[in-house]
Amino acid sequence: MGNVDRDFALISPNISLVDVPLPRRAKLGILASGSGSNYGAIAAAIEAGELNADIPVLICNKPRAKVLERAAKFGTKTQLLNHREFDSREALDEAILACFREHGVEWVIMAGWMRIVTDVLLKGYENRILNIHPSILPSFKGIRAIEQALAAQVKVTGCSVHFASLEVDSGEIVMQAAVPIAPNDTAETLHARIQAQEHRIFPTAIALAIRDSEQ
Ligand code: GAR
Repeated sequence: MGNVDRDFALISPNISLVDVPLPRRAKLGILASGSGSNYGAIAAAIEAGELNADIPVLICNKPRAKVLERAAKFGTKTQLLNHREFDSREALDEAILACFREHGVEWVIMAGWMRIVTDVLLKGYENRILNIHPSILPSFKGIRAIEQALAAQVKVTGCSVHFASLEVDSGEIVMQAAVPIAPNDTAETLHARIQAQEHRIFPTAIALAIRDSEQ
């Protein structure tokens, strides 16, 4: 057991960004609630010229989220829409929809967005909303997916990029990475390794979904 290759990951489909060049710059609207490392990976891929896209606006629902600092570093415009200031999930989604439409957003990217999406946004961006979840779906849906995997004592978990749907973490899967669990893993060590794979697959899955939608 001492030889577990902690950095091993199996990615499917086994492609990277260079395999999915986009002919046209896609306009991505980001939804983020937390540290924003996935947003950072997407913004870095754009900056490196590997992902042919722009981020006209990033919406965050938490006033003190670290993603706001990251966005400032990349020069991405941000809009704070604090969910506490809205009467319902639908009202929040109406405001998100209006903001994204105003900025010409074509695809919605949920990069650590910790709110349940409603029909309002799903209908506004039908088949154009992608989410990342830290498990191999359909296992361990919902909150605390990493803790769920550790409690279940599975040997492999990972991450999935999928289309958003009304049922949480249940839409069509675009790309997955499998990450082995080491015997001494904690939620923190495992999350760090899963996130390394999230940063690898998310930009590629975005390109893949956009390319497939335009074929
Ligand atoms: C990511 O690990 C993502 O998979 C998870 O939140 C983290 C956000 O990290 N998303 C969910 O659990 C959604 N149910 P980040 O803010 O550093 O990108």
